[in-house]
Amino acid sequence: MNFWRGKRLVITAGPTREALDPVRFLSNESSGRMGWALARAAKTAGAQVTLVHGPVGLENLAGVRRVPVTSAREMLAATLKASRGAAAVIGAAAVADWRPAVYSRRKIKKEGTAPVIRLTRNPDILGTLAARRPGLATAGFALETDDLLARARRKLLTKKLTVVVANPPSSLGGDRTRAWILTRRGTAAAFSGTKDALAGRILQVLGGELHGK
Ligand code: CTP
Repeated sequence: MNFWRGKRLVITAGPTREALDPVRFLSNESSGRMGWALARAAKTAGAQVTLVHGPVGLENLAGVRRVPVTSAREMLAATLKASRGAAAVIGAAAVADWRPAVYSRRKIKKEGTAPVIRLTRNPDILGTLAARRPGLATAGFALETDDLLARARRKLLTKKLTVVVANPPSSLGGDRTRAWILTRRGTAAAFSGTKDALAGRILQVLGGELHGK
């Protein structure tokens, strides 16, 4: 039986960009590939997929709705909107934790003293969704150098997620990855393989959790 057939699924992917002035921003190296792998797997499983994504250079996926955004706050608003009536949200985006506290409408000039950039916290997208939409299943990623599984489990509980995928940093960039998929029931399944195969496993575990509800 395929749990995902006809179900609505929202996936966040890629980096966010936090503007300092009209031409400068803070961001990160996320490529969006894990989100794309999840969208492909979900589409193949028959889900209606919406990809809410930051600036990435990736191809369109047939039958997948794309909602491009720039900042974390835009990603939160778009994800809240897209998740109405959805079964689940998977957070594969590398959301910038901070944004400049002040946006300068004018380009910051180099004359005079060097500017001091003050930062302020961005909203937590998955945490906000889990709090605002109690029926929605949520899956997130945890990347840790130390105490991987203990910290991932803490993230599962504090953000009230359904599933957490714990990655060591060695899984960044490449096509293959190692991961543990942790659930609220306390299971931790080890995984090693391609990102496409991991995407399939995540959907299987998340679908199983939703089915068991
Ligand atoms: N996430 C989110 N909104 C944020 C930050 C992260 O939805 N503002 C999601 C990411 O998409 C990912 C998970 O939460 O699924 C990662 O959580 P985060 O707390 O950012 O973890 P790390 O950066 O791995 O760890 P930490 O900041 O705790 O060192």
